Amino acid sequence: MAFHILAVVAVYILCGTAALQTAGLGSSFAAGPGLRENYARILATKLGANLTDLSVSGSTLLSMSSQISKLPKNADIITVTSGGNDLGYIGGLTTGATGGNKLSESQLLKRFDDVLANIHRMSPKATVYLVEYLTILGPDVKPGKTVSMNAAAVEYHRGVANMLQQATAKAAEGKDWVKDVPVAKLSQGHGLGASDPWVNGASSAGSSGGGGVAWHPNAAGMKAIANILYEMIGK
Ligand SMILES: *[C@@H]1O[C@H](CO)[C@@H](O)[C@H](O)[C@H]1NC(C)=O
Repeated sequence: MAFHILAVVAVYILCGTAALQTAGLGSSFAAGPGLRENYARILATKLGANLTDLSVSGSTLLSMSSQISKLPKNADIITVTSGGNDLGYIGGLTTGATGGNKLSESQLLKRFDDVLANIHRMSPKATVYLVEYLTILGPDVKPGKTVSMNAAAVEYHRGVANMLQQATAKAAEGKDWVKDVPVAKLSQGHGLGASDPWVNGASSAGSSGGGGVAWHPNAAGMKAIANILYEMIGK
């Protein structure tokens, strides 16, 4: 009898302390090419949580359905960074081409809304943290110096980044299970040309000294995002 009671208590304790289930979705800004750990992995470690990392470099909001279909139904926390490839944002920085984006902000917002509804259907109890793209062309950029593009090109790509940030923040509005993670603003002082950049420019890993690939987050950027998320989740 005493043994049975102990067994019941043991099961209760085990269930009560079951690992927090987290999942990571999105594009390369979530996946972290060239890095040992992305922000979702660093966050899971900090939380002592289980992570299902489904992020895929090059993915768009439209192609995210294959990631969403693999979401654990019991996920507690889902992180998402997406939308940049829908606008040709990083592709444009890489090739130096301007004018590649054909979407309006409302068209992008519609894609975000569809993705969020599908995530909510798959994992109804999860809180979704919509993590913005880190700032690349912040106030420390000097056209023709920090980057090889001219001032007009810098303004074009800043405009794309701004549309992406606006749509991301608006997508979180009015949904109590979605939180915008205002990383674009919080990384303004860590763009290219800053003393402590969280992203690389054209010259890949070496340009920030922090690993990663060209035009993408470095290790410091991923760690910073994980810290921001950890603070938000703790509140
Ligand atoms: C971690 O997540 C995976 C994928 O959802 C699941 O199969 C596994 O059982 C989970 N592990 C723990 C310890 O919760």
